[in-house]
Parts: sequence; C-alpha cells; structure tokens
Amino acid sequence: MKLFDVYPRYDLEPVSGLGSWIWDQSGGRYLDFYGGHAVISIGHSHPHYVDRITTQLRQLGFYSNSVQMPIQAELAMKLGKLSAYPDYQLFLCNSGAEAIENALKLASFHTKREKIIVFERAFHGRTSLAVTATDGKKIVAPININDRFIRLPFNDLEAVSQQLDASVAAVLIEGIQGVGGIHVPTDDFLRGLKTLCKQNGSLFILDEIQSGYGRSGKFFSHQFANVTPDLITIAKGMGNGFPIAGVLIQPDVKPWSGMLGTTFGGNHLACAAGLAVLEVIETEKLIENAKVMGEKLWGQLALLEGLEVVRGRGLMVGLDLPVDSKSFRNKLLIDQKVFVGSASNPNTIRLLPSLALNDDELLFFLSAFKSILQDESFFIG
Ligand SMILES: Cc1ncc(COP(=O)(O)O)c(C=O)c1O
Repeated sequence: MKLFDVYPRYDLEPVSGLGSWIWDQSGGRYLDFYGGHAVISIGHSHPHYVDRITTQLRQLGFYSNSVQMPIQAELAMKLGKLSAYPDYQLFLCNSGAEAIENALKLASFHTKREKIIVFERAFHGRTSLAVTATDGKKIVAPININDRFIRLPFNDLEAVSQQLDASVAAVLIEGIQGVGGIHVPTDDFLRGLKTLCKQNGSLFILDEIQSGYGRSGKFFSHQFANVTPDLITIAKGMGNGFPIAGVLIQPDVKPWSGMLGTTFGGNHLACAAGLAVLEVIETEKLIENAKVMGEKLWGQLALLEGLEVVRGRGLMVGLDLPVDSKSFRNKLLIDQKVFVGSASNPNTIRLLPSLALNDDELLFFLSAFKSILQDESFFIG
C-alpha cells in the first residue's frame, strides 16, 4: 500500500532523540528548534516521561471512560494547579482539532446560538468546524463550508464590536497565532474581547493548543493580558508527542454528562504521558526556563542583520526573511544540522524549541543561524 503524503517531507529520518537533539540513521546529530510543530515541550525521550509511560503500559494501557480512572483526576488536579485554573473542568480528547470541535459545540449548546467570530490568519485544525474556523480556503472542502463563521481582522476590536449580536455563540482566538506566522494579540485586544463577550452573552474561547503549556513564558499566553477565558483548548505540548488534548471549561458553563464523548480520550497511557509532562515542567521549572531562554534568544536575534521582524513570546518566535525561507531552512538543516519550522507566509521561520533549552544549545543555534544568514550568496535571486 502506498502512503498518503501528509506534508512535504525533509530528507531526514530521525531514529532517536534526547532533550533538544535528534539523531538520524547514520548517527548525524540535529538540534531540534521546531519540536514537530511545537509538540516537544519537555524534550525528546525525557527519562521521567519514558519511565511513567512504560510503567503505566505494563500495568494497563487502556480502558474507556466507562470505568473509574483516578489517573484522570490526578491529571486534572495537577493541570488546574500549574495553569492557575483549579476550579475549571477538564474534558480530555486526542488532538487539537478535536478540542476545537468540542469547544465550539459546547459554546453553541451553552448559549443556544450558532455563529462564531474568528480572525484573519487563524489556524484551528482540519476537522469540519475547526477547518471552517481556519483561514485557509485551500483546505476547506465543499462539505465544510457554512455561513456560521464571521472572519474579522486581527487586533481590531471595533470590527468585533460591530459584529457581535445575539446570534454569536463565541469568539475564538489563538493565544498567539502559530501557523499564521507567530502573531501576538495585544493585551488590550484580549481584554476588550473578554468584555464584549461578557456583555453579549457569548463565550470567549482561547485556543492555546500551540501557545500554551509554558511556551510563552507563562502557562498560557493569554495570562499576560490577565484575562480569563470561558473555554481554553490545549494539545501539542500537553503530551510531548503522545496524542492527548483537552478543553478547560469555566465553572459557570455546565455541560450535561454525555454532551461530549470520546473512546480514546483520557485513556490511561495518555494521562500518564500528560502527568509526566506536568511533573517535569514543575520540577525542572521549565516555564521559568522558557522565559529566561526566550529573553536570551530574543536579545541575540535583535542583533542580527537581514531579519525583517521578530515576533512572539518566550520560546515561540517568528521571524521574517526578506526572501522565501525554504532554501534557508533546508541549508540550516543540511549544512548546519538545525531544524526550524515554516509558516503560512513563505518568508516566515518559526522557532519552537523544547522548553528545556539550555545555553549551549542556544549558542549552537545562533552560530548555525548566523552562518547561513551571513552567506550573502544565499540572498541573491
Ligand atoms: C492553534 C492551533 N489550533 C489547533 C490546531 C490543530 O491541532 P491538531 O493538528 O492536533 O488537530 C493546531 C495545529 O497546528 C494549532 O496550531
């Protein structure tokens, strides 16, 4: 059987990983400054993560949500504490898009309304509602098209206030736009959205699937603006590669039992992975590390010539080259053995290293990056 090609593939086959590094089949070592689209939060194959998952698998890998599962409550408790949302409920599922589908469904059930406000350049996933919320006509199939999504300019509160009415169930926004090229909503915009939603009886949904779990230097990036969303979606960094996702639900939103459901969501193995991630984040103080290393990275990037703009927060960084970044990224990978990511704007590079990044790794990255940037021949044509 021939494989379906999900994305264009780099000519690299990683066979092992540890911390910020991955190795290919011939022993070549690569610095991972991308983490497979922001997934690697605590580093590859962290020993505690490996132990916790292995131990759980030896005991019981899976049973469904129809039995008692104290490990789910343990995960919810730990997440509530570390994220500073101890009184929210947690619905567990398997992927970012699934978290978005469930958040939108919940908002619609709760408000008995059907319209959703979303933003330009947004990315929320590829399933039916999520892909319609996403700004990318190419991946929206005819069956997904509906007129329930109102797309507005990013950071434009006036546009939102003109569109909010009694038909709007929710406003959905990323904590920091990821695939769209790392664009940060202003604190005033987030606060304004919260106020408008409250006045209008709409729910305020923060998609923290990419920007959450400490990547910004706070547990959630919206916490810089001191706002409290009604629903928060999480995935990527939550399992450090193990498929697990969730929706955090504020206490006044009370879904009835059975409104949301899943076979695999919140299974024993996934919870073990999720707990291991939170335990490492806590004991190794990785959120503080993301903040400190992010400041160092930003400081150094600001000194480089040839970059147009640097955007983001903490270890979620977007920068624009004056040219298409594809051959730059390839050169970085092949010549310097450093992995970085792309974005919907072809000139943009996304930097999403592990939250456990250290000084030596940062220096390795900077020296590799500078050497390609200084290769003037690269920019000709
Ligand atoms: C902000 C955001 N939301 C949702 C998704 C969809 O997540 P998944 O690919 O796990 O379905 C992504 C994936 O890139 C994302 O970045």
